[in-house]
Amino acid sequence: MRGGLIGCGFFARNHLAAWRDLGVDMVLCDRDVGKAQALASEFGAPAVYGDAAPMIAAERLDFVDIVTTVESHRPLVELCAAARLPMVCQKPFAADLPDGRDMVMAARDAGVPLLVHENFRWQKPMLALSQVVGAGEIGTPSFARISFRHAFDIYRNQPYLATEPRLALVDVGVHVLDLARFFLGDVTRYYCRTQRLNPRVRGEDAANLLLDHSSGAVSSVEISFFSHLDPDPFPQTLVRVEGSEGTAELLPGYRLVVTRGGRSETHDVEPPVPAWGQRPWHLIQDSVVALQRHWLTCLRDGVEPRPSGADNLRTLELVYGAYDSAERGVALTTSLDEVRG
Ligand SMILES: NC(=O)c1ccc[n+]([C@@H]2O[C@H](COP(=O)([O-])OP(=O)(O)OC[C@H]3O[C@@H](n4cnc5c(N)ncnc54)[C@H](O)[C@@H]3O)[C@@H](O)[C@H]2O)c1
Repeated sequence: MRGGLIGCGFFARNHLAAWRDLGVDMVLCDRDVGKAQALASEFGAPAVYGDAAPMIAAERLDFVDIVTTVESHRPLVELCAAARLPMVCQKPFAADLPDGRDMVMAARDAGVPLLVHENFRWQKPMLALSQVVGAGEIGTPSFARISFRHAFDIYRNQPYLATEPRLALVDVGVHVLDLARFFLGDVTRYYCRTQRLNPRVRGEDAANLLLDHSSGAVSSVEISFFSHLDPDPFPQTLVRVEGSEGTAELLPGYRLVVTRGGRSETHDVEPPVPAWGQRPWHLIQDSVVALQRHWLTCLRDGVEPRPSGADNLRTLELVYGAYDSAERGVALTTSLDEVRG
C-alpha cells in the first residue's frame, strides 16, 4: 500500500506514525515544502511535493490522506475524486453544509470511498461503551450526557484556534456530536447555547446542546475549553448512557462503570500507549491507529467506512445549525432526508 498525505502540520505526525505501524508507505505534500521535508526525514518518506496535483499525477497511490485545515478540504477532495482516489479527510470535513454535499457527491460520482477522520468514536473507551450499549446490557437507551470540558492550553499546539471566529462547535463539536449520533442514532431536533469565556480567544469556547433523537432518547452535549477542574480530564470525553435496565458511564481515569440491578462493575478501558506515543496523548494516538486500521480493512473488503462523508453531513448539519440555534435562541429541526443527498 502507498498513500499520499497532504498537510504536514501539527497533527500529521500522529497519522504518519500510525501509517508506519500499519505498514503503509506515505509520500508527503505540504505547500510549505520545508514542513514536508522535515517529516519525510523523520518518517523515511520516499518523496515530497509542494502541491497535491503533481503528487497525484506522478505517484501510483492507493489513497490520499488529507490533513489540512478545513478551507482547503473542498478543492483537495474534488482533486482526488477527479483522479478516482479513495480518501480520508480530517475534520471538520467541510466549511459549510453545501460544500459538504458537493464533496460527498464528487466522491460518489467518482465511485471512491470517503472516510471522515472522526477519531473520537474510535477511541478505546468509546468502543467499549458502544459494545456495552449495543449488547443491550443497559436495556434501551433513553438518555446520554456527553461532556468534553477542560482548561488545557489547546492554543499552544494549534495557535490558529485562538483567532477562529467559530471555535468550540467546529473544532470539537464535530467530535462530540458524532459521538451523540454514534450512541443514540440520528437527531431530529436540537437547541444550543454558546459562551465566550476566555478573553484571549475570538470564537465561542463553550457550547451546550440538547438533542432529541429519532429513537425518542434525549442527549445533553457539553463542550468547554475554559473549565478549571482538578484533575483536568483532558483529553478524555466523559459519557453517561442511561437505559431501561441500567447505566453505563465513562469516568476520569478510563473507568467504565456499568450499573444494573443495583450492582456496579468497573472496567479499565485505558488505551495502550503506542511505542511512538506518550500519556495523555495515547487516547488520541491509539484512536488514530484504530481509525486508519479500519480504513485499510474497508479498502480491502470494499466496505463503506465509518463515518463516511455522507454520514458526516448529518453531524455537520447539527454543528452549523447550532450557531443559528444559539443566535436566534430557538430549537431547530433537522432535515435528515434532504441531508442524506
Ligand atoms: N482528529 C483530531 O483529533 C484532530 C486533532 C488536531 C487537529 N485535527 C484537524 O487536523 C487538521 C489539521 O490540523 P493541524 O493542527 O495539523 O493544522 P496545521 O495548520 O498545523 O497543519 C496544516 C498543514 O496543511 C498545509 N496545507 C494547507 N493547505 C494545503 C494545501 N492546499 N496543500 C498542501 N498543504 C496544505 C499547511 O501548510 C500546514 O502545514 C485540522 O482540520 C484540524 O481540525 C484533528
